[in-house]
Amino acid sequence: MRLNEQPLLTAAQIEARIAEIAREISDRYAGRDPVLVAVLKGAAIFAADLMRRLTVPACLDFIRARSYAGTESQGRVRITFLPEHSLEGRHVIVVEDILDTGRTTSAVLDCIRQQNPASLVLCTLLDKPARRVVPVKADYTGFRIDNLFVVGYGLDYDERYRHFPDIRTLEE
Ligand code: IMP
Ligand code: MG
Repeated sequence: MRLNEQPLLTAAQIEARIAEIAREISDRYAGRDPVLVAVLKGAAIFAADLMRRLTVPACLDFIRARSYAGTESQGRVRITFLPEHSLEGRHVIVVEDILDTGRTTSAVLDCIRQQNPASLVLCTLLDKPARRVVPVKADYTGFRIDNLFVVGYGLDYDERYRHFPDIRTLEE
């Protein structure tokens, strides 16, 4: 795999887009205290930056989902870590790093719906719509990108590259 030195999205582009999304979310939730539920691990960095731009008193929680590997049927998703606090009656904003096939996010949304939140929206930094297998639509999207494998700003390849402040592509 070859890492492109030229970023697909610079740190400045990411920062500016997050500021826009944070304004939209702050307007929508004025007078309320939503819960951000960040999907570990990739969305941790996005959620941290997004949260600091909000002007509403948001809470932060986490959920973790893993795809079965190996002999298990491809694409099955298991929730391995649940939010600490009850989401019943809360205004929940799920924060994702990337929407790819949609399987992970769909499982996360199903899991959270079972807790009867007052409302539920999805905010994703990146979306690769061409890859979708399960229909999932985000309410807030940072950037729509082509079918490329990207790393940085929380996104990994085999746990590497999450620390980049920008987003770069990896090529075969
Ligand atoms: P899904 O296919 O939508 O279920 O995405 C599963 C997970 O694959 C995402 O949450 C990411 O962690 C990872 N993923 C998908 N596309 C990329 C990518 O381009 N770079 C890094 N991770 C990715
Ligand atoms: Mg990953």
